[in-house]
Amino acid sequence: MVELAAKRVLVVGSSGSLGGQLTRQLIASGATVFATASSVESAERIPLGVSLRLVLDLANPASIQGVADHLLSIDTPLDGVVLAAGLVGFGSAFDTSPTSAATLMQVNYLGQAELISRLLPMLTARAAETGEGFIAGISGLVAEKAFLGMSAYSASKSAFSSYLAGLGMELRRYKITVLDARPGHTETGLAGRAIFGTAPAFPAGMTAAHVASVIVAGIIDGKRELASTDF
Ligand SMILES: NC(=O)c1ccc[n+]([C@@H]2O[C@H](COP(=O)([O-])OP(=O)(O)OC[C@H]3O[C@@H](n4cnc5c(N)ncnc54)[C@H](OP(=O)(O)O)[C@@H]3O)[C@@H](O)[C@H]2O)c1
Repeated sequence: MVELAAKRVLVVGSSGSLGGQLTRQLIASGATVFATASSVESAERIPLGVSLRLVLDLANPASIQGVADHLLSIDTPLDGVVLAAGLVGFGSAFDTSPTSAATLMQVNYLGQAELISRLLPMLTARAAETGEGFIAGISGLVAEKAFLGMSAYSASKSAFSSYLAGLGMELRRYKITVLDARPGHTETGLAGRAIFGTAPAFPAGMTAAHVASVIVAGIIDGKRELASTDF
């Protein structure tokens, strides 16, 4: 069992719908939350009650390095990281440009993985002191099952899911639990913010509050994966 009270947690994508819910629920559990948004404007959507707001653009390696360096330089080591940022795009493989696919891969997988790599010295040192740490990421149902018109998004999420599984194996000996959460469609408005293409008609999805509560419970229970059927 992970006791969230007094834990320091970075929520990447706290300005988003799921990230916002996760932020609120972590704060309600007694955690101190450091939060990121991709811009100064969108940082306005970070929930009240966070202890630090940071601008992090996962598409920009300099931004990732700057945020990581800042977090490493302040005297407040993190106990956990929740990776809740992401972009989506829709369309057939015929119509998906390499640039669009690369953007999804960068934001949904490579950027988040780079941030974690840069923070690992702090996370492993902190877990050595406390005996526990965690990293939770949201891949999604698309990492389990293919859907028409979502090959580029699915590829980025499958890469992220595989990354989290491999990272989890590596970090076991440091007492850091890595969780891969794979929820299905959730009513966050993400589909309407696609960076290319148009979303298909989805059936009604889950609420962001429900999905966040399952993820927070999974963190507390030390789970390593939450399959789509767990939501
Ligand atoms: N909604 C679903 O059905 C569903 C299902 C399964 C998995 N997921 C995953 O859950 C995560 C959260 O999605 P959501 O539904 O809550 O969508 P959302 O409300 O649109 O949130 C997306 C978050 O990603 C951040 N983001 C986007 N581009 C970024 C960049 N270049 N650098 C840093 N941050 C960036 C956004 O920051 P700004 O707002 O500051 O730009 C926002 O905080 C995503 O990884 C998504 O793929 C969603």
